[in-house]
Amino acid sequence: MHLQGNIFVVTGGASGLGHQVVKSIVEQDGYAIIMDINATGANKAVQSLGSDKVYSSGSVDVTSEEQVQRAIKGGLSYFNSNNKDKESVPSLLLAGAVLCSGIVLSPQKIQGYGPDKHLTSYSQFKHVLSVNLLGTYNVAQQVAQTIIENNKPLDEDGERGIIITTSSMLGLDGTLVGYGTSKAGIAGMTLPLARELASFGIRVMSIAPGPFETPMKNVLPGANPPVSLFPKRHGYPHEFSDLVLQIITNPMLNGSVIRLDGGLRG
Ligand SMILES: NC(=O)c1ccc[n+]([C@@H]2O[C@H](COP(=O)([O-])OP(=O)(O)OC[C@H]3O[C@@H](n4cnc5c(N)ncnc54)[C@H](O)[C@@H]3O)[C@@H](O)[C@H]2O)c1
Repeated sequence: MHLQGNIFVVTGGASGLGHQVVKSIVEQDGYAIIMDINATGANKAVQSLGSDKVYSSGSVDVTSEEQVQRAIKGGLSYFNSNNKDKESVPSLLLAGAVLCSGIVLSPQKIQGYGPDKHLTSYSQFKHVLSVNLLGTYNVAQQVAQTIIENNKPLDEDGERGIIITTSSMLGLDGTLVGYGTSKAGIAGMTLPLARELASFGIRVMSIAPGPFETPMKNVLPGANPPVSLFPKRHGYPHEFSDLVLQIITNPMLNGSVIRLDGGLRG
């Protein structure tokens, strides 16, 4: 799948890994619909990366079916009306989603994680699962539905779209009850969803990063999460987005979770 001329939803596009993904999509001449609860950050991204290639409908909570639906519809009609007068440009289609939104702490930010803290409460658990796992599925499902309704096969394989989710090393290695469980769920969803969407020409992949240099790293438990086995540092956001670009363009990547952690194990 090419990025050029295609539209991708990026959740969490206002910050960190998602923001870098939006940047890379624009550099490859693609279009991005940012869905982020942080409207100020999303608007800043639109201003800095260019409103011809990046769209935000304001604050979008990935757990809201209605807000996600509105953002998809708004983004599609925004980009297509922008390009209406260019005869050589065909109508722009939604070709996939890169799902990077996520939270670590509960909304109250009360203690609840780690051996010397209180147990993770049911409401904390439910909140983290709701944003990270259900929010990811909500957007994946609606993007897939839009692709199935609108897109003809884009190439000789019959490919029509791609869904890329963000799990975490902490989900695969069994760390943190709420966050880790939500990320294990995202990883576990990869193959069943790939199987469900295969007959529609939509691939599904997940990336499980170790610690990366983003604002979230500062709130992950432990002030200084361990560096990788090698190289001995945390990942840079462009190393995440480089993998996203490779997944989008390589049709044989499907149904798998890729660790991106420099050999670190939890
Ligand atoms: N940074 C790391 O070390 C690391 C490691 C492993 C996995 N991850 C995962 O990578 C993804 C990106 O994380 P990041 O490091 O860029 O963090 P970040 O905090 O910089 O970005 C997360 C973004 O998600 C948005 N968001 C939160 N709740 C939302 C909601 N309900 N609806 C819409 N948007 C919402 C935030 O506003 C923010 O812009 C997350 O899913 C995170 O769990 C990060």
